[in-house]
Amino acid sequence: MADTLSIVDNRTGKQYEVPIQDGTIRAMDLRQIKSGPEDFGLMTYDPAFTNTANCRSAITYIDGDKGVLLYRGYPIEQLAEESDYLETAYLLLNGELPTAGQQQAWTQQITMHTMVHENIKKFMEGFRYDAHPMGMFLSTVGAMATFYPDGTKIFDKESRNLQMHRLIAKVPTIAAYAYRHIVGRPYIYPDNDLSFTGNFLNMLFRMPAEKYQANPVLARALDVLFILHADHEQNCSTSAMRGIGSSHVDPYSALAGAAAALYGPLHGGANEAVLRMLKEIGSVDKVPDFIKRVKSGEAQTRLMGFGHRVYKSYDPRAKVIKRIADMVFTVTGKNPLLEIALELERIALQDEYFVSRKLYPNVDFYSGLIYQAMGFPVEMFPVLFAIPRTAGWLAQWNEMLNDSEQKIARPRQIYTGAATRNYVPRDKRK
Ligand code: CMC
Repeated sequence: MADTLSIVDNRTGKQYEVPIQDGTIRAMDLRQIKSGPEDFGLMTYDPAFTNTANCRSAITYIDGDKGVLLYRGYPIEQLAEESDYLETAYLLLNGELPTAGQQQAWTQQITMHTMVHENIKKFMEGFRYDAHPMGMFLSTVGAMATFYPDGTKIFDKESRNLQMHRLIAKVPTIAAYAYRHIVGRPYIYPDNDLSFTGNFLNMLFRMPAEKYQANPVLARALDVLFILHADHEQNCSTSAMRGIGSSHVDPYSALAGAAAALYGPLHGGANEAVLRMLKEIGSVDKVPDFIKRVKSGEAQTRLMGFGHRVYKSYDPRAKVIKRIADMVFTVTGKNPLLEIALELERIALQDEYFVSRKLYPNVDFYSGLIYQAMGFPVEMFPVLFAIPRTAGWLAQWNEMLNDSEQKIARPRQIYTGAATRNYVPRDKRK
């Protein structure tokens, strides 16, 4: 059996043989198919890239039908059980789990970069008192490019590593400052004696006059949530990271763009939207009515936290999160919105509308309930997604820069506008 595709162009009667590799044909192989010498050649039309591979990647594997998610070959369930976020970040970036020595060196590297420049703190103070923390987060990450001009040396491996360490280490500090800003509390400097999540919780919740000890169950729960969110192959924000990075801009600017993509309610903003939806529903008895509204498409109402472009079965991350929720609620008490979420899930999983469209809970359906129980305001939810996804964005960016097949991203279009016409002077326009 030949690994080729035979294409007959019925416009010309010509036949073409196109190689198939890895279940894929190269779009550029279609360019030779022309209706005549003046013809540009055949293109593919794929709005929203629903069936187009943009890269080769060895980082994350998803089987959406079977509900499988692997980081560098390791099942997400095993990482959530055995690993921690920093080790997972190392795995994503380097391809292998660290040895004990590598883990120690890596932890030390990240820990020594947790501080941000005092001026970053100062300009964060300039945001309005009610600024959305995700807006603060993404603009501050972008502004970091001005503090680290060496970030432009993207083809210097050592410099690239340094910027990646800085970003992974500093995003929790920026996130915590954004939070302290909206709650009107003084910013807390990082404490390098603490773990990655322990330090983050300390910067978020410590009152300057008091000692603070993060609850170990909550610190572990947050760490597992960070593992689950660390990468998810070519999603909207990662494609933004790769797309922006393909112009060879510094990683701070590219990451600001990726964070902006994550902010949207169809992506990382969904956990915030889930909480707003649960609040709007208000009580379990109103769930059937809400489901009815979703099904009728009323005012574009969607069941937020349900459905996924790739998963057509239960999102494996959502399964782990449900377990974490139980763990967290034993410490914080049950989130009163949980009952509404469980009822929504129960009804949706047996309703023909959702079943036939293969709409299952995704990672965002339960994560917001946990964050809220831990004391985070809903505005912080997308920021809590962006912190761990920083590792994934950087791993993908690094992989792209090392891929000799990659060039500046530049899709084509089908032009639907006016043909050439002459300029009409203002007094002659109708
Ligand atoms: N509620 C109700 N109907 C839905 C939903 C939903 N959450 N999601 C999809 N549908 C329907 C949609 O109306 C369409 O129906 P029809 O065929 O009758 O027109 C069908 O299911 C297919 O939907 P689609 O919009 O073509 O699917 P997509 O792959 O373009 O969208 C999605 C994926 C995640 C944007 C979408 O499912 C959605 O809007 N979900 C709610 C937002 C959400 O939870 N986002 C978080 C995604 S996971 C975390 C992340 O990656 O950030």
